[in-house]
Parts: sequence; structure tokens; C-alpha cells
Amino acid sequence: RVPEPCALVIFGVTGDLARKKLIPAVYDLANRGLLPPGFVMLGFARRDWGHGDFEQIARDAAQQHARTPWREQVWARLQGNIKFVPGSFDDDEAFDTLARTLDELRSSHGIRGNAAFYFSIPPAAFPTVLKQLQRTGMSDNDASGGWRRVVVEKPFGHDLDSARDLNGLVDNVFTAQDVFRIDHYLGKETVQNILALRFANTLFEPVWNSHYVDSVQITMAEDVGIGTRAGFYDSAGAARDVLQNHLLQLLTMVALEEPVSFDSEALRVEKLKVLRAITLPEDLKRYAIRGQYAQGWVAGERALGYHQEKDVPADSTTETYVAVRLGVQNRRWAGVPFYIRAGKRLPRRVTEIAVSFKTAPHLPFAKTDTEELGHNQLVIRVQPDEGVTLKFGSKVPGTSMEVRDIAMDFLYGEAFTESSPEAYERLILDVLLGDKTLFPNSQEVEESWKIVDPLEEYWSGTTPYHYRAGEWGPREADDMLARDGRTWRRP
Ligand code: BG6
Repeated sequence: RVPEPCALVIFGVTGDLARKKLIPAVYDLANRGLLPPGFVMLGFARRDWGHGDFEQIARDAAQQHARTPWREQVWARLQGNIKFVPGSFDDDEAFDTLARTLDELRSSHGIRGNAAFYFSIPPAAFPTVLKQLQRTGMSDNDASGGWRRVVVEKPFGHDLDSARDLNGLVDNVFTAQDVFRIDHYLGKETVQNILALRFANTLFEPVWNSHYVDSVQITMAEDVGIGTRAGFYDSAGAARDVLQNHLLQLLTMVALEEPVSFDSEALRVEKLKVLRAITLPEDLKRYAIRGQYAQGWVAGERALGYHQEKDVPADSTTETYVAVRLGVQNRRWAGVPFYIRAGKRLPRRVTEIAVSFKTAPHLPFAKTDTEELGHNQLVIRVQPDEGVTLKFGSKVPGTSMEVRDIAMDFLYGEAFTESSPEAYERLILDVLLGDKTLFPNSQEVEESWKIVDPLEEYWSGTTPYHYRAGEWGPREADDMLARDGRTWRRP
């Protein structure tokens, strides 16, 4: 489906996210023929840029980071529909110009007032921009005659209270149905596939419960450090940066009941039930582990320690790694531990969900060869190497009854000729189409903070354990699983 003619207004268009993700995603959409002829991208940016600078930067961004092949004629067409409004957020005149530009686009591009405002800006700037949109009437659906939507990037607050404030602020200016909160993990093809895997098949669902599942491990490992993001990261840490959103959303997709349909309301009902059923471990000291990377080696290259990174205070106690054991207290999952971990400067970039099944109650095979046996595992590889692996025991060819674990693999690249859209591509398209299925709503955000806040409270005043860059997190995280008689997967 192609959206109606509309404008996408990006605030913070000079930032990293816009250059690496948003502009390339717009190009990819154009390249796939998914943008309407009347589509316009409006960048709102600092005064010291001219239209030519913006055009060049947008072009470089698309050329460098787009997923689809470069086609000069696609860019040329898109470029004709890129506009630039210079100004700062407290500059009334700039916002008046923006409002006028949107008005002019009605006749020149037939957008009928349809516009989405993308906030790729720090939350501290939200109130000012929201006020400007309200003052100029740009946030008003009725006045514009078309739809007006707002897209908010994470972090959705710093804790439950600030999330509520933020939600209140946005909901005050836009109606709830027009607010799109981005969690880009939900835009990933492999994450959406969790639902297809579970509910489009009969094979998995009967064993998807505490009778058969031993435990679930969700891993989000990154080999990179914090780069130049100390300003944000040091005040957030791994739990706020990715546990509160990406990882809890992944857990929710694994644990939820079958939604009545795949629409936003039906999905939200089920996701909320899971989030409300999540419990923290009683023994936080042993089952909620924080780590911080010290200097080491990643992929053969020397890596700085967190304290040596640019703009990180020498005594920072911010965590770059988090591992926690969560429970989901409902009939399906009671007693099944969900081990969740995320970290920077780990040996490699990999996000995966591993569902481990209980050992077969009886193994009629010779003991020596069966040590590893019977641990069926379904691994959903979110990225990279997108796909699914099923691990099961098989007879080793030969004259004795030796059984060994083997893997059956599904790889996106081999199974499909279609290429996966990048997460932002999918999500921007959904915003323009008005489809909220893949966007967490304010209640989900608040429920997620209710899980993270007590962890943060427990950790405040404590120092994270250390791990060397290039290791799989601190030893204490291994101890946590060992105590339960399990081990972390080494993907
Ligand atoms: C972002 C986090 O939301 O996700 C970053 O703020 C992290 O710290 C990034 O690096 C990872 O995204 P992806 O899609 O590369 O796994």
C-alpha cells in the first residue's frame, strides 16, 4: 500500500539518526515505489545551513546508508521534493515559515494537510517544539483538514514519572491515536516473524509453555562501545537504553497469548498482559547483574575501557552490560526463567532469542554420548544471520547408536528472494499509512518502566562489576546462570 500524498517533517535532521537511518529509509521507500508522488520531506535544522548543504548531506546519507541499490533517477525525483527550513526550536519565525510551507504544499503537492512530525531530538527539546506546533496550529488535525501525526523516538523518559510527564505533554497536543512511539526493534523483520512462527504454525504452540520450556534466553550483544554518545549514554546505561524497550518488547512477543487479530489494539491487549505479569527476582543481588567494560580487545583491535571513552566521567558507575532473570507469572509461564542480557563491547554483534526445552524424561541411549543430548532449542536469530535454528538430537551415521545434537537452519537469505526492509523503512511507512500495530503505546512504556525502576533503585549507589572489552560480560553474570544449573549461550 502507498500512503496518501503527505509531508514528513524531521526535527533534528542534522543528527546521527536522521543521517544514518531516517533519510536512507526515505530513499529506500522511494526506491521501492512506496511513496506517493506528492510526498515531501521537510528538514528542520540549524540556521547556518543553506538548502544546498542540506541537499548534499541528505544525498550523502542516502548513498552511504541506504539498503537498496543506488539509482540516480530515484534520488533526482526525491530531491525535487526535499525542502529545508532553517531555524532553532525557540524561533517563532521559523515555525511560522514551516506552517506556511505546509500550507503551500496543499496546492503544489496535493498533501491536503497530511503531515507527520518526526522528533529526532533530545526529550529536553520536546516541550518547546510541541508548543510551537500548537501555537501555529500545525498539530491540529481539524484545522489542517488532513491528518497530523507525531513520531517520538526513545528514550521515552528516564523513569516512570518522567515517562508519564512526557506522555502527558505529547497527549496534550496530539490525540493519542496520532502519537507514534518508535521502538525500532519492532520494525525488524525477524521480530515480527516471532508472531508468524508461533501463530501461523501448529508445531510450536503446543510446546510453548512451562510444561515443555525449561528457560528462555534473550541476548542483545553489541561489539561496539558507546562511540560519541557519552552525553546520552552515561546518564542512561544499558537498562534504560535497551532493556526498558527493545528487550522487554522481545520478551513480550515470545510470551504473549495469541491476539484476536494482528491489529494494534488486539496486540496491545496481549502485550500489556505480559508486561503486567513480569516479575523481578527476589534476590536482586544475585539475579540482577550490572557490568561495565574495561579496556580489552574486540575483533583483534584494542578497545578503550568505558572510563576512557570521550566525555565519560572517570568515576562513572553507569552500566554498559545488564543481565537479569525475569519471570512471567501466568499459567503458561509460571516457573520458567527468562534470562535477559544486553551489553556493549561484547565479542560480537548478535541479537537472538533461545527457547530451551526440557530434557527428555528418559534417554534409552548409551550414557557417554548423551551428555549434551535432549536439550532441544529453538533459536530465533534476530540479527545478523537472520533466521531460525532448531537444535535436536540425531543418530550419528555408523554402526553404533550414537546420538548427537545437530542444527536445522532457516536463513532468510536462502529461503526468500525478497529483501527485508530496514526497520526504520517499515516504521516510517506505517506512520504515513497510520498503522500503529508496530508501535508501543503509552501504557506499554509505563509498564516497562515499572519493571526497570526497581532495578535502577537497587543499583543506585552500587558499582557495576567489570568485564574486559571482548568478553561475554562479567563473571557474576555467568555465576547467576550456574547457580540455576544453566549456562549462557555463546552465539
Ligand atoms: C538503540 C540504542 O536503540 O539501539 C543503541 O540506543 C544501540 O545503544 C542500538 O546501539 C542497537 O540497534 P541495532 O538495530 O543496531 O541492534
